[in-house]
Amino acid sequence: MPSLFSAPPPRLALVMVGLPARGKTFISRKIARYLSWLGHKTQVFNVGSYRRARLGSHQRHSFFDPRNESAQAARLDVALAALDDMLAFLDAGGEIGIYDATNNTRDRRALVRARCAAEGVDVVFVESICSDPATIEANIRATKARSPDYEGVPEEEAVRDFRLRIAHYAQSYEEVGEDEGPFIKIIDVGRRMSLHRIEGYLLARVVHFLLNVQVQPRNLWLTRHGESEFNVLGRIGGDTPLSAAGRAYAHRLAEVVLERFRPVPVVWTSSLRRTIETAEILGLPFRSWRALDEIDAGVCDGMTYGEIAEQMPNEYEARVGDKFRYCYPRGESYQNVIQRLEPVIFELERERSPVLIIGHQAVLRALYAYVMDRPPHECPFVSIPLHTVLELEPTAYGCNERRLELPPLPADPEGFRQAG
Ligand code: F6P
Repeated sequence: MPSLFSAPPPRLALVMVGLPARGKTFISRKIARYLSWLGHKTQVFNVGSYRRARLGSHQRHSFFDPRNESAQAARLDVALAALDDMLAFLDAGGEIGIYDATNNTRDRRALVRARCAAEGVDVVFVESICSDPATIEANIRATKARSPDYEGVPEEEAVRDFRLRIAHYAQSYEEVGEDEGPFIKIIDVGRRMSLHRIEGYLLARVVHFLLNVQVQPRNLWLTRHGESEFNVLGRIGGDTPLSAAGRAYAHRLAEVVLERFRPVPVVWTSSLRRTIETAEILGLPFRSWRALDEIDAGVCDGMTYGEIAEQMPNEYEARVGDKFRYCYPRGESYQNVIQRLEPVIFELERERSPVLIIGHQAVLRALYAYVMDRPPHECPFVSIPLHTVLELEPTAYGCNERRLELPPLPADPEGFRQAG
Protein backbone atom coordinates (compact mmCIF):
# COMPACT_ATOMS: atom_id res chain seq x y z
CA MET A 1 0.00 0.00 0.00
CA PRO A 2 1.46 3.39 -0.89
CA SER A 3 2.35 5.88 1.80
CA LEU A 4 0.05 8.82 2.51
CA PHE A 5 2.93 11.10 1.59
CA SER A 6 3.75 11.86 -2.01
CA ALA A 7 7.52 12.27 -1.43
CA PRO A 8 9.62 9.19 -2.22
CA PRO A 9 9.32 6.74 0.65
CA PRO A 10 12.15 7.08 3.20
CA ARG A 11 14.45 4.19 4.08
CA LEU A 12 15.22 4.82 7.64
CA ALA A 13 16.48 2.87 10.63
CA LEU A 14 15.45 4.11 14.05
CA VAL A 15 18.04 2.49 16.28
CA MET A 16 17.00 2.30 19.91
CA VAL A 17 19.58 2.91 22.61
CA GLY A 18 19.34 2.56 26.37
CA LEU A 19 19.77 0.34 29.37
CA PRO A 20 17.22 -2.43 29.94
CA ALA A 21 13.88 -1.32 31.46
CA ARG A 22 14.02 2.16 29.94
CA GLY A 23 10.90 1.65 27.84
CA LYS A 24 12.65 1.03 24.51
CA THR A 25 10.20 -1.64 23.43
CA PHE A 26 7.24 0.49 24.49
CA ILE A 27 8.59 3.44 22.49
CA SER A 28 9.48 1.24 19.49
CA ARG A 29 6.00 -0.20 19.31
CA LYS A 30 4.35 3.17 19.77
CA ILE A 31 6.33 4.69 16.91
CA ALA A 32 5.72 1.65 14.70
CA ARG A 33 1.99 1.72 15.34
CA TYR A 34 1.78 5.43 14.62
CA LEU A 35 3.81 5.31 11.42
CA SER A 36 2.03 2.18 10.16
CA TRP A 37 -1.30 3.84 10.79
CA LEU A 38 -0.16 6.80 8.68
CA GLY A 39 0.55 4.34 5.88
CA HIS A 40 4.31 3.89 6.23
CA LYS A 41 5.64 0.34 6.06
CA THR A 42 7.23 0.07 9.47
CA GLN A 43 8.46 -2.91 11.45
CA VAL A 44 10.12 -3.45 14.80
CA PHE A 45 13.05 -5.87 15.05
CA ASN A 46 13.37 -6.77 18.70
CA VAL A 47 16.66 -8.46 19.48
CA GLY A 48 15.28 -9.94 22.72
CA SER A 49 12.75 -11.92 20.69
CA TYR A 50 15.50 -13.18 18.38
CA ARG A 51 17.53 -14.23 21.42
CA ARG A 52 14.60 -16.11 22.91
CA ALA A 53 13.74 -17.77 19.58
CA ARG A 54 17.33 -18.86 18.90
CA LEU A 55 18.88 -19.40 22.30
CA GLY A 56 15.87 -20.20 24.48
CA SER A 57 14.20 -17.99 26.99
CA HIS A 58 15.69 -18.94 30.32
CA GLN A 59 18.94 -16.99 30.44
CA ARG A 60 19.81 -15.55 33.81
CA HIS A 61 21.81 -12.39 34.45
CA SER A 62 25.19 -14.14 34.06
CA PHE A 63 24.39 -14.57 30.38
CA PHE A 64 24.57 -10.77 30.04
CA ASP A 65 27.80 -10.42 31.98
CA PRO A 66 30.42 -8.86 29.65
CA ARG A 67 32.99 -11.32 31.06
CA ASN A 68 30.92 -14.24 29.73
CA GLU A 69 32.66 -14.49 26.37
CA SER A 70 30.73 -17.34 24.80
CA ALA A 71 27.46 -15.64 25.68
CA GLN A 72 28.79 -12.35 24.25
CA ALA A 73 29.45 -14.07 20.91
CA ALA A 74 25.99 -15.66 20.90
CA ARG A 75 24.39 -12.30 21.71
CA LEU A 76 26.27 -10.59 18.90
CA ASP A 77 25.06 -13.29 16.49
CA VAL A 78 21.39 -12.76 17.34
CA ALA A 79 21.80 -8.98 17.25
CA LEU A 80 23.26 -9.18 13.77
CA ALA A 81 20.57 -11.61 12.63
CA ALA A 82 17.91 -9.08 13.66
CA LEU A 83 19.84 -6.29 11.95
CA ASP A 84 20.16 -8.31 8.73
CA ASP A 85 16.41 -8.98 8.79
CA MET A 86 15.73 -5.29 9.23
CA LEU A 87 17.96 -4.42 6.28
CA ALA A 88 16.26 -7.12 4.18
CA PHE A 89 12.89 -5.63 5.14
CA LEU A 90 14.05 -2.15 4.06
CA ASP A 91 15.49 -3.59 0.87
CA ALA A 92 12.16 -5.25 0.05
CA GLY A 93 10.14 -2.03 0.19
CA GLY A 94 9.98 -1.40 3.93
CA GLU A 95 10.24 2.27 4.82
CA ILE A 96 11.13 2.43 8.48
CA GLY A 97 12.86 -0.31 10.47
CA ILE A 98 13.03 0.03 14.23
CA TYR A 99 15.97 -1.82 15.71
CA ASP A 100 15.00 -2.51 19.30
CA ALA A 101 18.08 -3.46 21.30
CA THR A 102 20.23 -1.86 23.98
CA ASN A 103 22.97 -0.72 21.52
CA ASN A 104 24.62 0.62 24.62
CA THR A 105 28.21 1.08 23.44
CA ARG A 106 29.74 3.33 20.81
CA ASP A 107 31.33 0.28 19.18
CA ARG A 108 28.03 -1.50 18.78
CA ARG A 109 26.36 1.60 17.36
CA ALA A 110 29.26 2.15 14.94
CA LEU A 111 28.77 -1.41 13.71
CA VAL A 112 25.05 -0.88 13.23
CA ARG A 113 25.61 2.44 11.48
CA ALA A 114 28.22 0.97 9.13
CA ARG A 115 25.96 -1.90 8.11
CA CYS A 116 23.05 0.46 7.50
CA ALA A 117 25.24 2.90 5.56
CA ALA A 118 26.44 0.06 3.32
CA GLU A 119 22.79 -0.50 2.35
CA GLY A 120 22.05 3.21 1.91
CA VAL A 121 19.85 3.32 5.00
CA ASP A 122 19.87 6.45 7.18
CA VAL A 123 20.21 5.94 10.90
CA VAL A 124 18.68 7.97 13.70
CA PHE A 125 19.39 6.88 17.26
CA VAL A 126 16.46 7.02 19.65
CA GLU A 127 17.86 6.90 23.16
CA SER A 128 15.79 6.50 26.29
CA ILE A 129 17.53 7.78 29.40
CA CYS A 130 15.89 7.38 32.75
CA SER A 131 17.45 7.63 36.16
CA ASP A 132 14.29 7.69 38.25
CA PRO A 133 14.42 4.50 40.38
CA ALA A 134 10.62 4.41 40.83
CA THR A 135 9.99 4.46 37.06
CA ILE A 136 12.59 1.78 36.43
CA GLU A 137 11.22 -0.40 39.22
CA ALA A 138 7.66 -0.02 37.90
CA ASN A 139 8.80 -0.96 34.41
CA ILE A 140 10.68 -4.03 35.66
CA ARG A 141 7.61 -5.22 37.53
CA ALA A 142 5.11 -4.41 34.78
CA THR A 143 6.98 -5.91 31.86
CA LYS A 144 10.25 -7.65 32.61
CA ALA A 145 9.19 -9.85 35.53
CA ARG A 146 6.29 -11.02 33.35
CA SER A 147 8.40 -11.55 30.24
CA PRO A 148 8.90 -15.05 28.80
CA ASP A 149 12.48 -14.78 30.12
CA TYR A 150 11.08 -15.36 33.60
CA GLU A 151 8.21 -17.72 32.97
CA GLY A 152 7.60 -19.75 36.12
CA VAL A 153 10.09 -17.68 38.15
CA PRO A 154 8.72 -16.03 41.32
CA GLU A 155 8.38 -12.27 40.83
CA GLU A 156 10.90 -11.19 43.47
CA GLU A 157 13.53 -13.54 42.09
CA ALA A 158 12.87 -12.29 38.55
CA VAL A 159 13.15 -8.67 39.67
CA ARG A 160 16.44 -9.36 41.48
CA ASP A 161 17.89 -11.13 38.48
CA PHE A 162 16.78 -8.37 36.13
CA ARG A 163 18.43 -5.72 38.27
CA LEU A 164 21.69 -7.65 37.99
CA ARG A 165 21.20 -7.81 34.23
CA ILE A 166 20.86 -4.03 34.12
CA ALA A 167 24.03 -3.70 36.19
CA HIS A 168 25.98 -5.71 33.58
CA TYR A 169 24.86 -3.37 30.82
CA ALA A 170 25.48 -0.29 32.96
CA GLN A 171 29.20 -1.16 33.18
CA SER A 172 29.76 -0.47 29.51
CA TYR A 173 26.92 1.97 28.70
CA GLU A 174 27.92 5.09 26.80
CA GLU A 175 25.36 7.75 25.91
CA VAL A 176 25.03 8.66 22.26
CA GLY A 177 27.34 11.54 21.32
CA GLU A 178 26.79 14.24 18.72
CA ASP A 179 29.62 12.81 16.63
CA GLU A 180 27.53 9.62 16.15
CA GLY A 181 24.96 11.31 13.92
CA PRO A 182 21.31 12.32 14.33
CA PHE A 183 19.59 11.42 17.55
CA ILE A 184 16.44 11.87 19.58
CA LYS A 185 16.94 11.52 23.32
CA ILE A 186 13.94 10.95 25.51
CA ILE A 187 14.88 11.83 29.04
CA ASP A 188 12.94 10.78 32.14
CA VAL A 189 9.92 9.43 30.26
CA GLY A 190 9.58 12.47 28.03
CA ARG A 191 10.00 15.14 30.67
CA ARG A 192 12.84 16.40 28.51
CA MET A 193 13.89 15.70 24.95
CA SER A 194 17.14 16.44 23.24
CA LEU A 195 17.47 16.48 19.46
CA HIS A 196 20.47 16.51 17.20
CA ARG A 197 20.33 16.92 13.40
CA ILE A 198 16.69 15.90 13.19
CA GLU A 199 15.48 17.03 9.79
CA GLY A 200 12.57 16.42 7.47
CA TYR A 201 8.84 15.97 7.72
CA LEU A 202 8.75 12.35 8.85
CA LEU A 203 11.17 12.77 11.75
CA ALA A 204 9.42 15.98 12.77
CA ARG A 205 6.17 13.94 12.98
CA VAL A 206 7.90 11.29 15.07
CA VAL A 207 9.30 13.90 17.46
CA HIS A 208 5.93 15.63 17.74
CA PHE A 209 4.32 12.28 18.43
CA LEU A 210 6.90 11.36 21.08
CA LEU A 211 6.40 14.71 22.79
CA ASN A 212 2.82 13.66 23.48
CA VAL A 213 3.32 10.02 24.43
CA GLN A 214 3.08 9.27 28.11
CA VAL A 215 3.07 5.96 29.89
CA GLN A 216 0.12 6.20 32.25
CA PRO A 217 -2.22 3.35 31.20
CA ARG A 218 -5.84 4.48 30.82
CA ASN A 219 -8.91 3.07 29.18
CA LEU A 220 -10.43 4.31 25.98
CA TRP A 221 -14.12 3.79 25.32
CA LEU A 222 -15.51 4.19 21.82
CA THR A 223 -19.17 4.41 20.96
CA ARG A 224 -21.16 5.67 18.04
CA HIS A 225 -23.88 8.22 18.79
CA GLY A 226 -27.36 6.89 19.50
CA GLU A 227 -29.35 5.95 16.43
CA SER A 228 -30.10 9.06 14.34
CA GLU A 229 -33.06 9.83 12.11
CA PHE A 230 -30.84 9.18 9.09
CA ASN A 231 -29.80 5.81 10.52
CA VAL A 232 -33.50 4.88 10.66
CA LEU A 233 -33.88 5.80 7.00
CA GLY A 234 -30.64 4.09 5.98
CA ARG A 235 -29.19 7.41 4.79
CA ILE A 236 -25.52 8.23 5.19
CA GLY A 237 -23.97 11.41 6.53
CA GLY A 238 -26.23 14.38 7.23
CA ASP A 239 -26.72 16.10 10.55
CA THR A 240 -29.98 14.75 11.86
CA PRO A 241 -31.06 14.48 15.51
CA LEU A 242 -31.34 11.27 17.48
CA SER A 243 -34.31 8.96 16.98
CA ALA A 244 -36.35 7.87 20.01
CA ALA A 245 -34.24 4.69 20.15
CA GLY A 246 -31.09 6.81 19.90
CA ARG A 247 -32.15 8.89 22.88
CA ALA A 248 -32.97 5.72 24.83
CA TYR A 249 -29.44 4.49 24.09
CA ALA A 250 -27.95 7.75 25.34
CA HIS A 251 -29.82 7.33 28.65
CA ARG A 252 -28.66 3.72 28.93
CA LEU A 253 -25.10 4.82 28.14
CA ALA A 254 -25.33 7.46 30.86
CA GLU A 255 -26.34 4.82 33.44
CA VAL A 256 -23.51 2.52 32.49
CA VAL A 257 -20.85 5.23 32.31
CA LEU A 258 -21.80 6.79 35.63
CA GLU A 259 -22.09 3.43 37.37
CA ARG A 260 -19.13 1.57 35.94
CA PHE A 261 -16.55 3.73 34.19
CA ARG A 262 -13.85 4.60 36.70
CA PRO A 263 -12.20 7.06 36.80
CA VAL A 264 -14.97 9.09 35.15
CA PRO A 265 -13.83 9.65 31.57
CA VAL A 266 -13.18 12.80 29.64
CA VAL A 267 -15.80 12.89 26.85
CA TRP A 268 -15.13 13.90 23.26
CA THR A 269 -17.71 14.22 20.48
CA SER A 270 -17.71 15.34 16.87
CA SER A 271 -19.27 18.67 15.91
CA LEU A 272 -22.37 16.88 14.61
CA ARG A 273 -25.71 16.97 16.29
CA ARG A 274 -26.16 13.24 16.84
CA THR A 275 -22.97 12.91 18.92
CA ILE A 276 -23.59 16.14 20.83
CA GLU A 277 -27.15 15.09 21.72
CA THR A 278 -25.82 11.76 22.96
CA ALA A 279 -23.26 13.55 25.14
CA GLU A 280 -25.84 16.03 26.45
CA ILE A 281 -28.01 13.17 27.67
CA LEU A 282 -24.92 11.56 29.21
CA GLY A 283 -24.56 14.72 31.26
CA LEU A 284 -20.77 14.91 31.59
CA PRO A 285 -18.77 17.89 30.29
CA PHE A 286 -17.57 17.22 26.76
CA ARG A 287 -15.34 18.63 24.07
CA SER A 288 -16.44 18.69 20.42
CA TRP A 289 -13.94 18.15 17.62
CA ARG A 290 -14.56 18.79 13.92
CA ALA A 291 -11.76 16.31 13.32
CA LEU A 292 -14.10 13.63 14.73
CA ASP A 293 -16.88 14.36 12.21
CA GLU A 294 -18.04 11.40 10.14
CA ILE A 295 -16.39 10.63 6.80
CA ASP A 296 -17.61 13.24 4.33
CA ALA A 297 -19.66 11.42 1.72
CA GLY A 298 -19.51 14.44 -0.59
CA VAL A 299 -22.13 14.27 -3.37
CA CYS A 300 -23.50 11.07 -1.81
CA ASP A 301 -24.28 12.70 1.54
CA GLY A 302 -27.88 11.98 2.49
CA MET A 303 -28.31 9.06 0.07
CA THR A 304 -28.93 5.41 0.89
CA TYR A 305 -26.44 2.79 -0.29
CA GLY A 306 -29.16 1.45 -2.61
CA GLU A 307 -29.60 4.89 -4.20
CA ILE A 308 -25.85 5.22 -4.75
CA ALA A 309 -25.72 1.77 -6.38
CA GLU A 310 -28.61 2.67 -8.64
CA GLN A 311 -27.78 6.28 -9.51
CA MET A 312 -23.97 6.15 -9.45
CA PRO A 313 -23.02 2.54 -10.15
CA ASN A 314 -19.44 3.45 -11.05
CA GLU A 315 -18.92 5.21 -7.76
CA TYR A 316 -20.52 2.33 -5.93
CA GLU A 317 -18.30 -0.26 -7.61
CA ALA A 318 -15.19 1.87 -7.17
CA ARG A 319 -15.80 2.02 -3.43
CA VAL A 320 -16.46 -1.71 -3.25
CA GLY A 321 -13.18 -2.24 -5.15
CA ASP A 322 -11.03 -0.17 -2.78
CA LYS A 323 -12.98 1.02 0.18
CA PHE A 324 -9.88 2.34 1.98
CA ARG A 325 -8.66 4.64 -0.77
CA TYR A 326 -11.95 5.42 -2.48
CA CYS A 327 -12.73 9.12 -2.13
CA TYR A 328 -16.37 10.25 -2.46
CA PRO A 329 -16.64 12.97 -5.13
CA ARG A 330 -16.17 16.23 -3.20
CA GLY A 331 -15.86 14.16 -0.06
CA GLU A 332 -13.32 11.97 1.69
CA SER A 333 -11.74 8.54 1.75
CA TYR A 334 -10.81 6.51 4.82
CA GLN A 335 -7.22 7.47 4.03
CA ASN A 336 -8.21 11.15 4.30
CA VAL A 337 -10.00 10.47 7.58
CA ILE A 338 -6.82 8.99 9.07
CA GLN A 339 -4.86 12.10 8.11
CA ARG A 340 -7.30 14.47 9.73
CA LEU A 341 -7.46 12.35 12.87
CA GLU A 342 -3.78 12.84 13.62
CA PRO A 343 -4.33 15.71 16.10
CA VAL A 344 -6.89 13.57 17.90
CA ILE A 345 -4.32 10.80 18.22
CA PHE A 346 -1.75 13.20 19.64
CA GLU A 347 -4.25 14.47 22.17
CA LEU A 348 -5.29 10.94 23.03
CA GLU A 349 -1.67 10.04 23.72
CA ARG A 350 -1.23 13.16 25.85
CA GLU A 351 -4.43 12.78 27.87
CA ARG A 352 -3.92 11.33 31.34
CA SER A 353 -7.56 10.54 32.06
CA PRO A 354 -9.56 7.79 30.40
CA VAL A 355 -11.43 9.03 27.36
CA LEU A 356 -14.89 8.22 26.02
CA ILE A 357 -15.29 9.15 22.37
CA ILE A 358 -18.84 9.47 21.07
CA GLY A 359 -18.23 9.34 17.36
CA HIS A 360 -19.22 7.88 14.04
CA GLN A 361 -18.73 4.58 12.27
CA ALA A 362 -15.88 5.45 9.86
CA VAL A 363 -14.02 7.70 12.27
CA LEU A 364 -14.19 5.16 15.08
CA ARG A 365 -12.94 2.46 12.71
CA ALA A 366 -9.90 4.59 11.94
CA LEU A 367 -9.26 5.25 15.64
CA TYR A 368 -9.78 1.60 16.45
CA ALA A 369 -7.17 0.60 13.86
CA TYR A 370 -4.69 2.92 15.56
CA VAL A 371 -5.38 1.76 19.09
CA MET A 372 -5.51 -1.93 18.21
CA ASP A 373 -2.55 -1.71 15.84
CA ARG A 374 -4.45 -3.02 12.85
CA PRO A 375 -3.29 -2.32 9.28
CA PRO A 376 -5.01 0.89 8.16
CA HIS A 377 -6.42 -0.69 4.99
CA GLU A 378 -8.41 -3.10 7.17
CA CYS A 379 -10.13 -0.33 9.07
CA PRO A 380 -13.13 0.14 6.71
CA PHE A 381 -14.19 -3.40 7.63
CA VAL A 382 -14.02 -3.20 11.42
CA SER A 383 -17.42 -3.86 12.94
CA ILE A 384 -18.58 -0.87 15.02
CA PRO A 385 -22.33 -1.40 15.44
CA LEU A 386 -24.69 1.19 16.88
CA HIS A 387 -25.53 1.00 20.59
CA THR A 388 -22.34 -0.85 21.49
CA VAL A 389 -19.47 0.46 23.60
CA LEU A 390 -15.96 -0.78 22.83
CA GLU A 391 -13.78 -0.80 25.90
CA LEU A 392 -10.09 -0.76 24.99
CA GLU A 393 -7.84 -1.40 27.93
CA PRO A 394 -4.09 -0.98 27.48
CA THR A 395 -1.77 -3.83 28.50
CA ALA A 396 2.06 -3.69 28.68
CA TYR A 397 2.49 -3.45 24.91
CA GLY A 398 -0.99 -3.92 23.45
CA CYS A 399 -4.66 -3.53 24.24
CA ASN A 400 -7.53 -5.74 25.42
CA GLU A 401 -10.93 -5.25 23.88
CA ARG A 402 -14.37 -5.78 25.39
CA ARG A 403 -17.66 -4.98 23.73
CA LEU A 404 -20.65 -3.90 25.72
CA GLU A 405 -23.93 -4.16 23.83
CA LEU A 406 -26.65 -1.95 25.22
CA PRO A 407 -29.92 -3.21 23.76
CA PRO A 408 -32.19 -2.70 21.97
CA LEU A 409 -29.68 -2.88 19.13
CA PRO A 410 -31.01 -1.21 15.99
CA ALA A 411 -30.36 -2.82 12.63
CA ASP A 412 -27.71 -0.89 10.71
CA PRO A 413 -28.47 -0.17 7.07
CA GLU A 414 -26.73 -2.52 4.68
CA GLY A 415 -23.41 -0.92 3.73
CA PHE A 416 -21.22 -1.14 0.68
CA ARG A 417 -20.27 -4.76 0.34
CA GLN A 418 -17.75 -5.40 3.08
CA ALA A 419 -15.49 -7.73 1.14
CA GLY A 420 -13.09 -6.74 -1.58
O1 F6P B 1 -24.35 4.80 8.07
C1 F6P B 1 -23.79 5.54 9.08
C2 F6P B 1 -22.45 6.11 8.68
O2 F6P B 1 -21.89 6.73 9.80
C3 F6P B 1 -22.46 7.09 7.48
O3 F6P B 1 -22.73 8.41 7.84
C4 F6P B 1 -21.11 6.87 6.88
O4 F6P B 1 -21.04 7.33 5.55
C5 F6P B 1 -20.97 5.40 7.02
O5 F6P B 1 -21.55 5.04 8.25
C6 F6P B 1 -19.55 4.91 7.01
O6 F6P B 1 -19.51 3.50 6.87
P1 F6P B 1 -19.07 2.84 5.50
O7 F6P B 1 -17.70 3.36 5.24
O8 F6P B 1 -19.13 1.37 5.77
O9 F6P B 1 -20.00 3.27 4.40
